[in-house]
Amino acid sequence: MSKLVVSDLPDSEYEGKRVFVRVDFNVPIRDGKISEDYRIRRAIPTIDYLIERKAKVIIGSHLGRPKGIAIPDLSLKPIQTRLSELLGKSVTFTGKVIGSGVKKAIDSLEQGEVMLLENLRFHKEETDNDPKFSRELASFADIYINDAFGTSHRKHASTYGMASEFDHRLAGFLVSRELQFLTRIRENPERPFVVIVGGGKIKDKIHALKSLIEKADKVLLGGGVAYTFLKAKGMNIGNSIVENEMLGWAKESLEKYGNKIFLPVDHVVAGGFEKRKNCMVMDDNIPADLQGFDIGPKTAAIYNHEIRGTGSIFWSGPMGVFEVGDFSAGTTQVARAVALATWRGATTVVGGGETIASIRNAEVMDSEITHISTGGGALLEFLGGVELPGISILDEKEKNISLVAN
Ligand code: 3PG
Repeated sequence: MSKLVVSDLPDSEYEGKRVFVRVDFNVPIRDGKISEDYRIRRAIPTIDYLIERKAKVIIGSHLGRPKGIAIPDLSLKPIQTRLSELLGKSVTFTGKVIGSGVKKAIDSLEQGEVMLLENLRFHKEETDNDPKFSRELASFADIYINDAFGTSHRKHASTYGMASEFDHRLAGFLVSRELQFLTRIRENPERPFVVIVGGGKIKDKIHALKSLIEKADKVLLGGGVAYTFLKAKGMNIGNSIVENEMLGWAKESLEKYGNKIFLPVDHVVAGGFEKRKNCMVMDDNIPADLQGFDIGPKTAAIYNHEIRGTGSIFWSGPMGVFEVGDFSAGTTQVARAVALATWRGATTVVGGGETIASIRNAEVMDSEITHISTGGGALLEFLGGVELPGISILDEKEKNISLVAN
């Protein structure tokens, strides 16, 4: 069902109002510097929209998993700096989440000004979805907006508890776009529908993988996921990553859908990560003392050919340890093939933190992918058919037909 979006409320509803926007600014920060700001940039259209309509914007996010402790390295201070740069205006930051100082700062916000709260998870009441904490957060604002797709699978105070206190709880533009593309992939993908899955654990992806394998016309596997399937097929995978508890499921999937599942036919192998200088390419049946770290060139060529479709393509998870030069070629070729498919007219959807990093590594531009999801766990749960609490709490469009935008 479609959700009421920030632009569905008349402009007059925003003027002078305090609007709380839950965003997902859980971005990688090293030595106080943000190394990847895609999630921040994607939230800008909603914030800009509210500034233009003279709202007083209060932004809340988590960063990492501080478990209720104020850990300085997980402060949102570096995000305040980046957000100010991206918005082209200063963003108020008190270094606190709740309390009288925050209240005072909110009271002195002028129309069109923006304030960022400190890391919401510095209070364990956030992840506990504590009612008192939820009410305190809700008291800061008149309208609630969820633009944190990546955190919508969490039933926390800021994603769920506080939302129920509001008359208006809307989806931001980021969430709205995610729902539009991911619902299409989940329910009605344009065909041929090609799914590419790599990365580490099958277990984390099992629900999404089950549903995607069922729906896809072709499934191309790489990374650790592929080795579990290869072992289930009876191949020798040497020391490669495997999830033995998933072998039964992989075997069943191969019996049922084997005709559409593509597995690597060659591999870049080494005697271990520390012996990676001596890596080589070999076909199936990896000896016991070697480990696969990337798909080989023959596999990359086959995958490249299969990614040519003009229907839709979903990709999550790298083909190997792409961060290391010797093991990056397979993932880079897949990234470039997906980008080329976009130019050929396919709808391409890519998701998961590692996949975004591998797109950057392959020098593929954001505009060469139809939709890059900001979700990790949330994306997989959504595609696996799980109802996300942070989405289900938002107003349905149908219920609010009277609120037609001016
Ligand atoms: C993510 O990075 O997937 C989201 O920000 C959610 O983070 P969490 O898994 O710590 O809840």
